[in-house]
Amino acid sequence: MSHTGFEAGSIIAGQEYKGEGRDTLEVHNPFNKEVIGRIHLATSEDLDRAIVTALKVFHTTMKKIPAYQRAAILRRAADILEERTEEFATILALEAGKPIRDGRAEVKRGVQVLRFSADEAKKLAGELVPMDAAVGGENRLGLVKRVPLGVVGAITPFNFPLNLALHKLGHAIAAGNTVVLKPAEKTPFSAIQLAKVFEEAGLPTGALNVVLGFGPDIGEPLVQDERISKVTFTGSPQVGLKIKQMAGLKKVTLELGSNSPNIIFDDAELDRAVNSLVKGAFAFSGQVCISVQRIYVQQTVYDAFVERFVRQVNELQVGDPLQESTDIGPMITEEAAKRAEEWVKEALEGGAKVLTGGTRNGSVMAPTVLVNVKPEMKVVCQEVFAPVVSIIPFTTEREVIQMANNSNFGLQAGVFTQNIDRALRLADALETGGVWINEISTYRQDNYPYGGVKQSGVGKEGVKYAVEDMTDLKFIGIKLGS
Ligand code: SIN
Repeated sequence: MSHTGFEAGSIIAGQEYKGEGRDTLEVHNPFNKEVIGRIHLATSEDLDRAIVTALKVFHTTMKKIPAYQRAAILRRAADILEERTEEFATILALEAGKPIRDGRAEVKRGVQVLRFSADEAKKLAGELVPMDAAVGGENRLGLVKRVPLGVVGAITPFNFPLNLALHKLGHAIAAGNTVVLKPAEKTPFSAIQLAKVFEEAGLPTGALNVVLGFGPDIGEPLVQDERISKVTFTGSPQVGLKIKQMAGLKKVTLELGSNSPNIIFDDAELDRAVNSLVKGAFAFSGQVCISVQRIYVQQTVYDAFVERFVRQVNELQVGDPLQESTDIGPMITEEAAKRAEEWVKEALEGGAKVLTGGTRNGSVMAPTVLVNVKPEMKVVCQEVFAPVVSIIPFTTEREVIQMANNSNFGLQAGVFTQNIDRALRLADALETGGVWINEISTYRQDNYPYGGVKQSGVGKEGVKYAVEDMTDLKFIGIKLGS
């Protein structure tokens, strides 16, 4: 496969919109900065055309398609995507700099999201209201139906350009909605190919429209448009907050960032914990919302933990995402890597110590382990979103709960212990949307409710919950004859 020469425009009503004076943008391979292709940016007329199309197709077609047919479309899309695993994994390596093995894993997850969405399409059901529970309710029948919302505006990030798009598309389509999708401008080609997968799977033309462009030009007007019923977004807390303020009365689901805590008690299986924590801290160069960022280790096993952890980090293979052996590739841009390097420098100036890493080569930030950090350092209290992890000692359970909860974020946490009572106490005490016991915060399976508290977001993904959130409840009352 050629590694350059991708070219794409927005896809609206099945047509690609290119040229005719549209601005273009080069897309770069984050590893070697080679141009891999270019996109033609959507104009505001294109965005309007996409919304008009999605609204029309919703009313004329999509909301009338029975559940078994929506499920069949989603299943066909899953099969086609599965057959094209290698092609999609290669696109992810090229546009996002994702190591090829991680790219394959992302495609596999995306296939499952589509299959789960197909199942949920057939399970969406309403209920009967016990009308005679209220005085005067005799001889009345109350039905509650789940109905689709209309047009969903989906805005997706660069870090999981395929699977996080599928979380939005699979859910919206399962519930009978149409979509206008704006992918990250740095990773547009997976979304364009995905639109082609849905077309081949038989999704009605115009039910999915992809508009290419920047947040301020395309994302913001999409969020503000009155014809959009729901906005679903994954990305930074700053942009998430702006979206919530701009969205008006629309429903919103916001999956935002975190600085995930992972806690290792002295009765944990240390080797098992180290193995998974190394993966969870550095997978996709830490550019994952639930990446292991703060590791709290009980004092009695601290030295042993640190020694094993650093040894394993030093074995990670850093390099070209297209190489099978690569564990760590580049960050999305050199600017992102420079920002991470700057935060590490600031921490070192404040008294932190680097045990390995701390260096940068272009867009590649070496896997970095810090100790002697302070709670107010950016690498601890903000979302680092880079291959940088801090290891922090603690003494008591009470102390570590306070340290872990000392955060503006709350997405997922990991707790390693053999003590079930303690594990469940921690699960209750940690202020996060999800807690894993004997597993890292970075682990996510796509069928459980996933979403944060505090500044980590609003609403849940996880197929069943998100599909329900793509519907409204409609009440139908019948007054019966006496
Ligand atoms: C995210 O980084 O937003 C999602 C992580 C995942 O789906 O594994």
